[in-house]
This record gives sequence, C-alpha cells and structure tokens, in this order.
Amino acid sequence: MSTATDRNFVGVLLKSLPLLFKSDVRDYYTFLGDDVVEGHASGFRDPARSLWLNLGYWEEARTYPDAAAALAIQLGDAAQLAPGKELLDVGFGFAEPDLFWLDHYNLKRIAGLNVTPLHVQRAQQRVRDRGLEDRMDLRLGSATEMPFEDESFDSVTALECAFHFDTRERFFEEAYRVLRPGGTLALADGATMPGARPPSWLNRQVLRRWGVPLANVYDADEYCAKLGEQGFEQIRKRSIRQHVFPGCARYAEMRERGVSMEDAVVELSDQDIEQCYGAERMKLTCLTDYLIFSATKPAATHS
Ligand SMILES: C[S@@+](CC[C@H](N)C(=O)[O-])C[C@H]1O[C@@H](n2cnc3c(N)ncnc32)[C@H](O)[C@@H]1O
Repeated sequence: MSTATDRNFVGVLLKSLPLLFKSDVRDYYTFLGDDVVEGHASGFRDPARSLWLNLGYWEEARTYPDAAAALAIQLGDAAQLAPGKELLDVGFGFAEPDLFWLDHYNLKRIAGLNVTPLHVQRAQQRVRDRGLEDRMDLRLGSATEMPFEDESFDSVTALECAFHFDTRERFFEEAYRVLRPGGTLALADGATMPGARPPSWLNRQVLRRWGVPLANVYDADEYCAKLGEQGFEQIRKRSIRQHVFPGCARYAEMRERGVSMEDAVVELSDQDIEQCYGAERMKLTCLTDYLIFSATKPAATHS
C-alpha cells in the first residue's frame, strides 16, 4: 500500500496518469520507487535509507522505520516465526521485512517471491551485500504460482500485498500446498468494512491504478470463510486499523510539509485513534479495514 495526502493528490495523480490506463502492479511499484509516500521517491541516493513499503503499526512507534518494523513484528508473531524455522515471504518489497525477521527471530532460511523486477534486483543486491545468500533466496515470481515443492515451509507470510494477487484465493491454494502440516499462513491485509457498498466507478478506477483485482474486495468474515474453504484451520482475524491508518496519515502529512523520513516524529491524539483518522481517505479504495489474519494447515490429513 502507499499513502498520499489530499494536498499532493492531484500532482501525484498527474505524474502517474499512465497507471490509470493499465493495471500492472509492477508499474505502480516502479513509479513508487524508494518511498512509501507517493511522489517522494529519491532515486536510491542514500544507501542507508530505510526501504520499508508498508503503512506501519503506530501503537507505540513514532517514526516510520520503527512503525514499519512494528507491523512486521505483529505479522511475524502471528506467523509463529521462531529460531530454526523456514519461511516463505511473498511480496517482500526491498527485503526490509526479511532482513529484519531473519535476525529478530533467528530463522534458518527465508525464500521470497516478488513480481516487481526493481524490488527483486535491489533485494538480491542487499542480500549479497550482507553475505546472506545461504540463508535468503529472494526470487522473481508470483505468489499465485510458486516454484516450490509441496510441504517446504513452516510459515508463509504476506505483509501488505495479498490484495494485489490475481487472485488472493489462488494464493491461499498455493500457500496451503507449500506449507508443512501444522504450518502457519499469516497476512497483514486490507478488507472492506462489514456491510460496505460494492465498489463505485471511481473506486474501480482507483483499484485498477493500484493493481488490485476486484475479486479481492470483500470483508474480513468472507476472507476467513475463503481460508476455511481452502482447508485452513484455527483461522484468526484482528483488526488493527486504529493503529495503522491514523499514524500513516499523520506521517504522510508531515512528509508533505517537507519533513524528511528520518526527522518525522508522529504524535497521535486520542481523537485521531478513536476516530481512526485517515481511514476516510482509504474509502477511495474500499479497503477501510486493515487486519492481521492467521491460519494453520492441519497437522494430519483428516480422513
Ligand atoms: C506494499 S508492498 C509491501 C512490501 C513489503 N512487504 C514491506 O512491507 O515492505 C507490496 C509488494 O507486493 C509485491 N507483489 C504484488 N503482487 C505480487 C504477486 N502476485 N506476487 C508476489 N509479489 C507481489 C509488490 O511487488 C511489492 O513488493
């Protein structure tokens, strides 16, 4: 996901006009470049710059890199990441989550799939720069067609990317296949609020520009039902929208005022959190809920 304030919305929209005429998620992320705030890409000038591409979890974090890492912890815990485990991470961006998880949970190995060549090239270079090739294998490929054997991983994660997949259900099928019995699938993902109206014409244009298939637009209950239909058990959902949207909206506003990523310190009021400030802007996409989902592949096949 990415974020843009109202003030720069028109400017960014103009710069990204070609995205309106075709729906290709790779073009969207190439346009986004090295900054989660649309229109602020800096051409990878600073090699030390944090390259997270998610909205962040702002319950305690006050800076963007801390919030992005806090969201990765929410998801890593839900995925039951632990020392010695083998993880498949799809939609890994610039590998920021994977470099963080490898160390934070002392994982044995991480494999990754991503469809955006720019992300894969940069991520692979970062792995080589750190000498981690024997523990990290990040490849160009789609979450909906995985080049891995059945039952290869303890966990599968999708950090803020499954809304892009064509389709998310096809990904559930593949994740189920490559998970070992007893393994966990965990997602940080957008959904509609219960009872939301079907996408309008404007919603559909915004979703297309952003590379989100209409087939992925449904609420959290339907999401869980689809995981169940795939065979997953112990299906859990937890909305974290109040700890995601207000923080990232205030952060984007600071960036628009010219504050750098490094200097932006976000303070949220009780009202911001209670009223879920920023969720209003997400209405353009229909995805005004943001949740952590987890589900387990049964340990033994039921007869
Ligand atoms: C919002 S970014 C999240 C990046 C990363 N998880 C993070 O938190 O920094 C979404 C990512 O999903 C990737 N993506 C989109 N569609 C995909 C697909 N079908 N298979 C694999 N990756 C995909 C994009 O290229 C991008 O890297």
